[in-house]
Amino acid sequence: MTSSYRITLLPGDGIGPEIMAVAVDVLKAVGRQMDLSFEFEEALIGGAAIDATGEPLPQATLDTCKGSDAVLLAAIGGYKWDNLPRHQRPETGLLALRAGLGLFANLRPATILPQLVDASSPKREVVEGVDIMVVRELTGGIYFGTPKGLFETETGEKRGVNTMAYTDSEIDRIGKVAFETAQKRRGQLCSVDKANVLEVSQLWRDRITAMAEDYPDVTLSHLYVDNAAMQLIRWPKQFDTIVTGNLFGDILSDAAAMLTGSIGMLPSASLGADGPGVYEPVHGSAPDIAGQDKANPLAQVLSAAMMLRYGLNQPAAADRIEQAVNRVLNQGYRTGDIMSEGMIAVSCKGMGEALLATIDTFK
Ligand code: IPM
Ligand code: MG
Repeated sequence: MTSSYRITLLPGDGIGPEIMAVAVDVLKAVGRQMDLSFEFEEALIGGAAIDATGEPLPQATLDTCKGSDAVLLAAIGGYKWDNLPRHQRPETGLLALRAGLGLFANLRPATILPQLVDASSPKREVVEGVDIMVVRELTGGIYFGTPKGLFETETGEKRGVNTMAYTDSEIDRIGKVAFETAQKRRGQLCSVDKANVLEVSQLWRDRITAMAEDYPDVTLSHLYVDNAAMQLIRWPKQFDTIVTGNLFGDILSDAAAMLTGSIGMLPSASLGADGPGVYEPVHGSAPDIAGQDKANPLAQVLSAAMMLRYGLNQPAAADRIEQAVNRVLNQGYRTGDIMSEGMIAVSCKGMGEALLATIDTFK
């Protein structure tokens, strides 16, 4: 029997539409083989939405997302919109999407593919075999805490304010996702905070520590965020699952991503308590190479795989996509960001064609 799914596509800005096109072709090809049918609906977000409607997340887009089984997002932002007031910036649309869908848990895997070990800046022995999952809290912390804004002091100085705040329940729900994620992996969870300085982090540490009792099969450790950044570069293999707040997770996930050689390889999943999740690459919209058919579409394709695995409960189809990525890399195909000597340089479309040809052999 055919399973059918409604997928909202948010191609966004920059290289977004190019990499999205590849991911959609891959989904269709795997869908045909596995009896999955997808009904795609495209909607506007980010700069593209600002240009068309004046807002970075039109209500119609949020409604379309809410009515679908999963949302596949490419990337948002670009120079053109960088100087707009904050409420009209592309990033604000992304944050509103996360808040609007209640996506409090962001899973960002950083896995080193053996084919790309030499594309990484740290030495081979440091990165070979790295397999980390960063679980980032996504709808709280300093990104959303109040008071926030630009104020004026009594002496007429401007004062910019943001507030890092977490409640018990916000910490507990991300803690639960993190412990369960660690259970399915190697059973090690490292919680990252700044409890030596921040009250909000002390609460974070206390709650996560208390939860550990319910997960006797998970070994919990704690690191301060500055030390965690250092350890990630020094010896990343010590990490299995990392759980942390919104801002620390933003920073550490970029660092973890770069261990893999290119941020152009990494997918992510943003999940809520119920309703559709959003699946998107960790990288941005790369406006400098937009429209030139140079982008690496693999993070987008792997995000589609995460969507199948976590959002649509179709792990076999997800496996197929991941296998196809693995094979094209084995065959030597490389976009510019991961190119190395002796490999076959391909464009974004070229990588898509290589993937489709590989998937064709799975029949
Ligand atoms: C990310 C991005 C976003 C964030 C920006 C674009 C708002 O850096 O998804 O990591 O800070 O969360
Ligand atoms: Mg970021």
